Amino acid sequence: MKLILLGAPGAGKGTQAETLSRELGIPTISTGNMLREAIQNQTPIGLEAKRFMDNGQLVPDDVIIGIVEERVARDDCRNGYILDGVPRTIAQAEALERFGVAIDNVVSIEIEDAVIEARMSGRRVCPRCGATYHIMANPPKTDGVCDSCGSELIIRKDDRPETVHDRLAVFHMLTEPLKDFYAKQGKLRIVQGDQPIHAVYREILTALGKSV
Ligand code: AP5
Repeated sequence: MKLILLGAPGAGKGTQAETLSRELGIPTISTGNMLREAIQNQTPIGLEAKRFMDNGQLVPDDVIIGIVEERVARDDCRNGYILDGVPRTIAQAEALERFGVAIDNVVSIEIEDAVIEARMSGRRVCPRCGATYHIMANPPKTDGVCDSCGSELIIRKDDRPETVHDRLAVFHMLTEPLKDFYAKQGKLRIVQGDQPIHAVYREILTALGKSV
């Protein structure tokens, strides 16, 4: 299955992708995580991406298209994958089609901006393995420590309220039109994101026609 998780920043794409990836036995391709890794390793792509990400702007399409094309060609993607945070513009969606990616389903996780702004202040992430937590909704077993790899959890720089506000504006302008793009292809499934994590998960499985 080739699945796209669409949704505003903080809608819960990464959280759901983690569980779905285990359930479906396919990898998650998160451009956000790939870019953060590139920043940490100070690669040329990372250095270019950083100034856009810190300001809540999108990284240029040609950079994203290049890293995704290379990633989906790897062996572990043979049986499918989950795209988390990509495509984010019509140009990126058209590029996927150009390099032969046939998407099966697009799940849009819907949530009000006000809920997102409140949610982001509680997010904690693992800088090493990319796992995501929330201090109330999804806390780690030990305060401030990643369950998966034991690293110290951090607050993402782009989770500052003013940056979240900018990221939401970018989402509405450039990413939301993708809903129409995929609805016209009959691939769009809508899921309500403002409910407990496990309830969102069940709704996604139902939308994908999987038993829950
Ligand atoms: P990226 O890392 O992709 O960020 P995003 O899309 O803005 O999404 P987030 O990771 O912020 O949120 P999420 O939907 O995954 O929510 P999460 O599960 O973490 O991108 C970062 C930046 O990189 C972009 O701004 C851009 O600059 C650049 N970039 C990346 N891809 C790009 C592309 N394709 N093109 C151009 N630029 C690109 O959940 C959020 C919090 O809520 C967590 O704390 C979680 O525990 C909690 N939570 C989740 N679900 C629930 C729930 N149901 N109830 C309560 N809490 C919940």
